[in-house]
Amino acid sequence: MNSRESLTSWQKLVNHSAEMKNQHMNDLFKENKHRFDDFSIKLPSMLLDYSKNLLTEETITLLLDFAKECQLELWREKMFSGDKINSTEERSVLHTLLRDRSEEPFILDKQNIKQDITNALNKMKAFTDCVRQGKWQGYSGKRITDVVNIGVGGSNLGPQMVTEALKQYSDNSVNVHYVSNVDGTQIANVLRPLNPEKVLFIVSSKTFTTTETMTNAQTAMKWLVAASFDSSAISKHFVAVSANKTNALEFGIAAENIFDMWDWVGGRFSLWSAIGLPIALDLGFDKFIELLEGAYEIDQHFQKAELNENAPVILALISVWNCTFLGAKSQAILPYDQSLHMLSAYLQQAEMESNGKSVSWDGDDISYPTVPSIWGELGINGQHAFYQYLHQSNNVIPADFIGSIQSATPVQGHHETLMANFFAQTQALMQGVDEEQVRADLCAKGRSEEYIDNVAPHKVHQGNRPSNSILMKRISPKSLGSLIALYEHKIFVQGILLKICSFDQWGVELGKGLANKIQQELVNSEINVEHDSSTQGLIGYYMKSLF
Ligand code: F6P
Repeated sequence: MNSRESLTSWQKLVNHSAEMKNQHMNDLFKENKHRFDDFSIKLPSMLLDYSKNLLTEETITLLLDFAKECQLELWREKMFSGDKINSTEERSVLHTLLRDRSEEPFILDKQNIKQDITNALNKMKAFTDCVRQGKWQGYSGKRITDVVNIGVGGSNLGPQMVTEALKQYSDNSVNVHYVSNVDGTQIANVLRPLNPEKVLFIVSSKTFTTTETMTNAQTAMKWLVAASFDSSAISKHFVAVSANKTNALEFGIAAENIFDMWDWVGGRFSLWSAIGLPIALDLGFDKFIELLEGAYEIDQHFQKAELNENAPVILALISVWNCTFLGAKSQAILPYDQSLHMLSAYLQQAEMESNGKSVSWDGDDISYPTVPSIWGELGINGQHAFYQYLHQSNNVIPADFIGSIQSATPVQGHHETLMANFFAQTQALMQGVDEEQVRADLCAKGRSEEYIDNVAPHKVHQGNRPSNSILMKRISPKSLGSLIALYEHKIFVQGILLKICSFDQWGVELGKGLANKIQQELVNSEINVEHDSSTQGLIGYYMKSLF
């Protein structure tokens, strides 16, 4: 038995979950008129309402006991103080330090890494000011108008999600584009309308080994050199962000154009570092700092608030409650704010790459369900696509609803419609509608008894479907920083509760290795490895059809 399952609190939660499965949230709301006050947390930039979950005071008490038995507070301390909690990669986990703007030094492996961060931020500021003010010139002396970020996973999703979310804060000094896919269609489409004289490429790769990114960067370099007839143009049009300086130099990036990154920042937690360069170029350095400040606010809250009032802790406990104890397998992220249209894609990597694992940090098999699969879409679009499933399928899918009190771009009459749907959907998922009510409604409409018998079962909604509601005051650089940090810490806490090493990603390596071998076969047009018959057949069919 994994040691989590042998904890007293775990056993109590197992027993309690058996009782709670027979409860309906409608009754819980009737029994406790203060549920909203009891189960919500107000933060400076947002409100978290978690009352529409199948839980009571007792549930929260048991979950908090569980967190304490898992020594959550000790692990939190370990993370912030730089212990090498990424044990399989023997690394510290210090993305939080990137947003700590205090003067205090931070010594890691005998080095003051706070100074490294300050230097990196200063370099970012000087560079972004230079580009945005038109002082950085391309090979023909023209100012930069377009920035193309080449990177994938953590070197793409965070910056792109933030760029999309904060579009209304951009002064359009430069246009920012993203290329992540090795499918040539993407880079071809991005480059087609651009003028090579005015384009700046950021090659963003922590390892500087990622095949997709390297392939796209090579294509971009060829495109530039073909237009400029001069390889010295590269230093005017290419910068890199990487922890692997050697590879970046070898690739042809000028030493002074390399922005540092460090192995104590995980790729999916890296938008706060120079990986966030496209954000700073788009919005200006000051707004990038506001993003960091918003995250820092949540770092402080996470470190200082009591566990029962600690938003990331509560979100993580609810996730574990819903998934591990009540059996949910999937989690929907449903933004009711257009600017957050990439949030679910971002959180997919953040949560699934971190905690989608089935071995504990001791190397034991985990027998209990861990984290759900994360998916989602803008709520309104989802309502007209997959909400049918959320309301009436026999899979219960907990959902996070995220909306803003003030629209970033107010258009008369829109915001009320948007938010009415937000509130109504969480209510409908929770309350449902029983057969008695369905029959009464149909009867009131004058429907025949035969029709009612026929249709009533199809109109019943069981309800009792859990959701969290996050109401942002408004999406701004600062509040967005807070929202991202909220989820980052939730993910960390989930890992501790489930005994998962959240900061490695070995599960992406096997496929990468096989792809490298198969790529050689495709390039050489010969299969030289014995594959299973399906893979062999597919490669063979592909090759035959090519020629
Ligand atoms: O393949 C997964 C991954 O390693 C992610 O963890 C990472 O964010 C992404 O690839 C990109 O890695 P890099 O920044 O080293 O190119």
